[in-house]
Amino acid sequence: MEEIILKKVSKIYRIENKPFYALYDISFTIKKGEIITVLGPSGSGKTTLLNLISGLDRVSSGAIYYDNKNIAKYSDRQLTNHRRLKSGFIFQNYNLLEHLTVKENILVGSYVAQNKIDVTELIKVVDLTKHAKKSVYQLSGGEQQRVSIARAVAKNPEVLFCDEPTCALDEEMGKHVLEKLVAINKQMATTIILVTHNPGIAEIGDRIIKMNSGKIISDKTHKRKPPKEIEWA
Ligand SMILES: Nc1ncnc2c1ncn2[C@@H]1O[C@H](COP(=O)(O)OP(=O)(O)OP(=O)(O)O)[C@@H](O)[C@H]1O
Ligand SMILES: [Mg+2]
Repeated sequence: MEEIILKKVSKIYRIENKPFYALYDISFTIKKGEIITVLGPSGSGKTTLLNLISGLDRVSSGAIYYDNKNIAKYSDRQLTNHRRLKSGFIFQNYNLLEHLTVKENILVGSYVAQNKIDVTELIKVVDLTKHAKKSVYQLSGGEQQRVSIARAVAKNPEVLFCDEPTCALDEEMGKHVLEKLVAINKQMATTIILVTHNPGIAEIGDRIIKMNSGKIISDKTHKRKPPKEIEWA
């Protein structure tokens, strides 16, 4: 992937038979290797935006070009395939397989990867070696969040979608994980789109996009700050 272009993307839900725009006329371009951070209040459309760009959900109108292919026009099968091969997710609510172990969950991620990442090493990176054989339902929220991070990274995706990836972590572990994400971006040129409520975390981006009520209210290039130096609000 060299670039992703969104053109007039809208997402409409019908609520009590009236249209509600979760996203309205969003246009912007994402370049390979960028870290884009997305800030905005609850309900402003951040998760909806990630779901559309990643191919988890479909636009109501508009186009999303991955290089020159409009994924909005893909069949369900093409879209599933696209998502499997290209997108890694760190979900806001983890979405782990509760009855599989930590290691099994991460292996699920690595299954489709082209060049395999060392899963044992990855478990060490997120500091879960002690818990590798536990089932996910036996873990704390912060531990589950780290499993979900390792699973997404194990896939070695072209684009990593991170929805509040550190919201269940304390400052020390949060910064540690952000450093790993930045390191992956540097090593593999992985494009990262990261949603956060925390203006300090947004500073790790090359670009900061602010959203409100389904619209982009600002989109500014930014000199990235190393996670170690950010203020943890
Ligand atoms: N399936 C759905 N049906 C109807 N409305 C929806 C649906 N999914 C999301 N919405 C609405 O769309 C708007 C945007 O939701 P979204 O989840 O993208 O917000 P968000 O910015 O991620 O918020 P948060 O910071 O709380 O996670 C919200 O008003 C939400 O209620
Ligand atoms: Mg959200």
